[in-house]
Order: sequence, then structure tokens, then C-alpha cells
Amino acid sequence: MKVLRFEDLANDGQARGRRVFIRADLNVPQDDAGHITEDTRIRASVPCIAMALQGGAAVMVTSHLGRPTEGEFKPEDSLAPVAKRLGELLGREVKLVANWVDGVAVEPGEVVLLENCRVNKGEKKNNPELAQKMAALCDIFVHDAFGTAHRAEASTYGIAQFAKIACAGPLLAAEIDAISKALANPKRPLVAIVAGSKVSTKLTILQSLAKNVDGLIVGGGIANTFMLAAGLKIGKSLAEPDLLGEATAVIAAMKARGAEVPIPEDVVTAKAFAADAPATIKAATEVADDDLILDIGPKTAAKLAAQLKAAGTIVWNGPVGVFEFDAFAKGTEAIARAIAESDAFSIAGGGDTLAAIAKYGIEQDVGYISTGGGAFLEVLEGKTLPAFEILSRRAA
Ligand code: 3PG
Repeated sequence: MKVLRFEDLANDGQARGRRVFIRADLNVPQDDAGHITEDTRIRASVPCIAMALQGGAAVMVTSHLGRPTEGEFKPEDSLAPVAKRLGELLGREVKLVANWVDGVAVEPGEVVLLENCRVNKGEKKNNPELAQKMAALCDIFVHDAFGTAHRAEASTYGIAQFAKIACAGPLLAAEIDAISKALANPKRPLVAIVAGSKVSTKLTILQSLAKNVDGLIVGGGIANTFMLAAGLKIGKSLAEPDLLGEATAVIAAMKARGAEVPIPEDVVTAKAFAADAPATIKAATEVADDDLILDIGPKTAAKLAAQLKAAGTIVWNGPVGVFEFDAFAKGTEAIARAIAESDAFSIAGGGDTLAAIAKYGIEQDVGYISTGGGAFLEVLEGKTLPAFEILSRRAA
């Protein structure tokens, strides 16, 4: 995908003395007292801001935080905790500016954080007047918010239509590159792991990947539905029997391409969904009526690990068991370690997946860890994200 890259503009001296508006995704989790509990997205946004400052720009940064009501700013909507953390990471004070749509005072070499952009009326519906006002604040608009790349809002899409120059920041560019490498031009075999509680929420992903991947590993409640489709009993495990037809169609679509959806041959079960529930390993053909399947079994894990180690490219979304409970974490751990040991280019995304990566400390061994939640899922669904569409149009 051809988009203008801010890195090229900055290296070329084109940011010097210019007003640069960066849309970042600084939507980070906070506890009840407003303390940031996880700051990956803020850290991931620093390189773009530093690049703009080093390039001599007057830098404005904004983001949404949560889903506030437009026009009704409440203290909990404020980016103040983010401004503080960003200041620590940049080693300089980051001033927070409210009511900024009609003008922002900022000089070259300075950075200001513009208060929660989702409080502005018209943001969510991509109001053209709001977008034009935002575009008028800058010479260069930089989209660096992959986590929000699936939204067409005024600060992510409209501003890119109207700004003099619209380009991708280094984080967005890295996501574009990793996604292209994994899905558009993958080294084969391409193996995807799609796991989670429900088929329904990931059905479009399964259908889209079934047209492209060489192996489609399913896990969690999704695997249970596929086990049902394969004629296996799953006891009282979480599944969606009304989606058996869709699961069967995915298996058939893969088979028609000479590819496979591996069905677990053994599983780990319990009689109750609890951390201290005794875990039993059994063959997939021996699941009792009162069993809950909470993980894949060791034979299945070893087989999948071998498949992952032999892969050319791996896409990972979702843990294959209840990895929060140690007794049911071994399958996810085996998958994580196999990805870490594999020579394949791997890309991972989604909240639970990131938690599993952190739990097993394999961050350095995954090719690319996406900062997107919903955005990453929409990429896997095969959709063209609005951010990519508008930026490539502006680069034409
Ligand atoms: C996310 O948390 O996935 C992004 O920041 C997007 O947030 P949203 O779903 O509220 O648009």
C-alpha cells in the first residue's frame, strides 16, 4: 500500500518550522482513581512525537480516551494522566490544551497535547466542518493511531481529507508493513491461530482467513464449536451449536484449498469453571456430558507447536485455553513458546493475546505485536481500514 510516510518528510527537512498535527491512540486503561494501568500505547506513540520535534516542527498531539459524550466534558475524560506520562517518557513537560478546535498556540520545537478529541461535537460522525477546522490547525496531518484506524472520525479521517499534507506516522507505517508482510505477501505456509470464546464474534475473520491461510488453528469456545461440527461431544463446554453450519463451511473451504483446520485430539477438562477445579487430560472422543473443555491437551499442543515451528508466517489472535488459570494454561503456553521458537515471521494482536505474550515473556520473539484491538480484528476480516484508504488516496 502506497502512503506518504512522515519519516520520509521529516528526514527530508519538510517538517522544519511546520505545524504538525499527530493523531495518536493514547486510549489507555485506567483504574478507578484515574491511574494508567498499562501504557504500551503511550510508549508506542513516542517515536512519532520525537521525530516531529527533532524535525523542528511545532507539534500538536491528540487522541480519544474512552467513549465520552460529545459536548459534555467530564473530569474522567481528561487526557491529563496521559500528558503526565507522555512528559515523563519525552523528558519534557507536555502542556495539555482544552478547547483547541479554533486555534492552538504552539511554537516550533514545542509539543502540546490537545484534550480528548472525542469530546468535540461532530467527532464520531466525521463532521466536515469540524474536520476542516482541525485541518486548518496544521500544515501536516500525521495519522499514527493504528488502534483507531478502523474508525472514520473527524480526527482520523476527515482531517486527512482536508489537511494540506496527510501521511502515516511511524507506528501506523510499521503496522501497515507488518500486516502486508503477514497477509498480503506471506512466506508460506501461513498459519493463523484464531481463538476466543465465540465463533459469532470471529466468524468473518474465520471465513476471510479460510481463503488465504494454509493452516487455521482454532481455540477456546471456537474450537468447541468446530469439534461439534467434526462430530465430537463437548459436554457442557461453551459453544454455539447454531453456527455448526458456518463452522462446517469453513472446514470445507479450507479442505477445498488443500488446507486444514486441525481439530483437537485431546483436551483438558474440568467439572467447574474455576482456577482450583481439578484438571483432567482426556482424548477428544472421551469428553463426558458434565465436562467443560478448558484447554487443548498435550498431544494436540505438541502437534500444533510442530506446525507453528514449520510455518513461514504466523498470525495470532486469541489464547487457546483459559490461560488465566494455571491448570488450563499449558496449551496457550505451548503455542506461545512455539511462536517464539519458530523462524516464521509472526504478528499478534488483541488484548488477551497481548496478555498471554506478556505472561510468557516472549515479546522480543514475536515479529510484530499490533497495538490495535478492533482495528487488528478488522484487518484479519480482510477489510480495508478507513485510515489506509484515505492515506493511500492522499498519496496518489
Ligand atoms: C481501542 O481501544 O481499541 C481503540 O482505542 C479504539 O477505541 P474505540 O473502540 O472506542 O473506537
